[in-house]
Amino acid sequence: MGIAVVTGASSGIGREFALRIGNEEGIEELWAIARRRERLQDLIPQCRARVRVLELDLLRDDSLEKLERLLKKEAPQIVYLVNGAGFGLFGAFEALSLKEQLDMIALNVGALTALTHLCLPYMQRGGRIFQMSSLSAFQPLPFVGVYGAGKAYVLRFSRALNRELRPKKVGVTAVCPGWTKTAFFDRAANSDAVCVYDFFFTPARVVTKALADGKKGRDLSVCGLSVYLKLLLSKVLPHRLIMKLWCLQQKKEGLFGEKRT
Ligand SMILES: NC(=O)c1ccc[n+]([C@@H]2O[C@H](COP(=O)([O-])OP(=O)(O)OC[C@H]3O[C@@H](n4cnc5c(N)ncnc54)[C@H](OP(=O)(O)O)[C@@H]3O)[C@@H](O)[C@H]2O)c1
Repeated sequence: MGIAVVTGASSGIGREFALRIGNEEGIEELWAIARRRERLQDLIPQCRARVRVLELDLLRDDSLEKLERLLKKEAPQIVYLVNGAGFGLFGAFEALSLKEQLDMIALNVGALTALTHLCLPYMQRGGRIFQMSSLSAFQPLPFVGVYGAGKAYVLRFSRALNRELRPKKVGVTAVCPGWTKTAFFDRAANSDAVCVYDFFFTPARVVTKALADGKKGRDLSVCGLSVYLKLLLSKVLPHRLIMKLWCLQQKKEGLFGEKRT
């Protein structure tokens, strides 16, 4: 049985992945994971594949244990794993709650790593893993520091794993979108820490590009010319300068480093 495991399937980019993969030929069952059961149940009539609703809080150890037991029992053939669950917190490190920042690392980094480890034994030749990283992974960004550092982990881990898994013919793609119109901002942007958003992509565009990049065997998926240009700049400009420009754009400081009020 060819199945797809998608976390974050209740909203945004993960949901778009679930809808696209859940209607793909050859995928018999979609394991849709998130905390909001009713949002996952909405997928049932919209997918060609059977949808198995897995209401799991990935910040809980017992959720990972439950998934591990299910995988052992069913021994499915996993064609796709999408690690789409995640959240962001923008703001000054000192001002943000420590608990929330540690939860963000636990979900964006820890749960993603755990899901990858749990699912890999059930993936064979042709399987693909999509990991949600971000444009913020390519350079340090003040006021998005912990979030961006977590996404840098995802990027490095995913590309390294892709190389490691070459003999097994399982591919890993780090998906690195710029700003994308989803519910992400309800939680991430509840202060004016990041106040300028230059351009928004749709989840459909990001996922179309990611699936196409996955098919081409790419370990990195970047959607949109503006995002690609920023990625290139992060490789050629000193990161100190990029941070300066970012702080200027976000009205955190003036040209000569003075703090804006
Ligand atoms: N939107 C952007 O601009 C953007 C840009 C770059 C990267 N990303 C990354 O893309 C990924 C998806 O974000 P999005 O924009 O699609 O946000 P979103 O619409 O808020 O979706 C986040 C998903 O994560 C799930 N989730 C959150 N906490 C969870 C938990 N404890 N256990 C299980 N599932 C949990 C949510 O489901 P429940 O609430 O139902 O549990 C939801 O399905 C994230 O990793 C984000 O960092 C987003």
